[in-house]
Amino acid sequence: MRKEIMYIQSSKSIALDTVEMVLKNNYISQTAVPGQFLHVFVEGHTLRRPLSIADVDREKETVTILFKKTGSGTKQLATCQEGMTLDVLGPNGNGFNMDNKEGSSILLIGGGIGVPPLYYLGKTLVGQNMKVISILGFQSAESVFYVEKFQSLGETWMVTNDGSYGEKGFVTDVFDKIEAFDRYYSCGPIPMLQAITKKLEHKQGYISLEERMGCGVGACLACVIPKANNRGYKKICKDGPVFHAKEVTL
Ligand SMILES: Cc1cc2nc3c(=O)[nH]c(=O)nc-3n(C[C@H](O)[C@H](O)[C@H](O)COP(=O)(O)OP(=O)(O)OC[C@H]3O[C@@H](n4cnc5c(N)ncnc54)[C@H](O)[C@@H]3O)c2cc1C
Ligand code: FES
Repeated sequence: MRKEIMYIQSSKSIALDTVEMVLKNNYISQTAVPGQFLHVFVEGHTLRRPLSIADVDREKETVTILFKKTGSGTKQLATCQEGMTLDVLGPNGNGFNMDNKEGSSILLIGGGIGVPPLYYLGKTLVGQNMKVISILGFQSAESVFYVEKFQSLGETWMVTNDGSYGEKGFVTDVFDKIEAFDRYYSCGPIPMLQAITKKLEHKQGYISLEERMGCGVGACLACVIPKANNRGYKKICKDGPVFHAKEVTL
């Protein structure tokens, strides 16, 4: 992880309150692995904002982030335009465990703004000859993004809470329509991760947590989560954000 300046190559709205930003930087584009995040300084805000790496193009030296305008930091970030620069720490955290057997079948389960890190992961897995199946859940049609991108990786199931796009319900409602898979990777809100880890208890899985953060480098303890064995805590920023599904208590 290093402090770097990233050039904004493009910034555009891709769904309701959702921005896709392509950033150019040599070091981060050459070193980032799926599941890591950028810790972005936003003008006028003391604490940096953690945002997952959604895609990387090593040849073009670009890193893509997708973010939802939820509070003052992300709203301010959305005003930054092409040609401007961002002060970023990255790549931060540990990525997804990638020790899959060649030809494994992998299930990706993303919820809302938890979908972005799964795209870079899926693209990397396909490049390693894995079979990728995706289930993407959103609140409604206006929040949906990256459908074609995931469809280009493999079978993709879309689910919305109100049924306005794809199946109606939660990501867990389509589990019985999915064929056998070897391992799952998931990122999304805690209630979704709780439901998934319970339903897929018998499966090997990894989850990425997008909970509150302070320093982002392991110093402030703002991001701790209890270990599943009740022996202390893990820091999401330093030990995660990716954990084995049975490693922490959600
Ligand atoms: C590892 C990681 C990856 C993430 N990846 C993405 C992503 O790819 N796209 C995306 O839209 N969001 C992502 N988030 C959530 C994102 O960081 C928050 O939405 C954002 O920090 C909110 O900032 P704000 O100023 O707009 O909101 P405010 O509510 O004004 O923020 C106030 C404070 O709370 C913190 N905070 C508030 N909500 C969250 C939250 N959900 N997670 C972490 N900190 C929070 C902020 O950092 C800030 O310190 C990620 C979070 C983590 C931890
Ligand atoms: S955010 Fe400070 S220790 Fe994790």
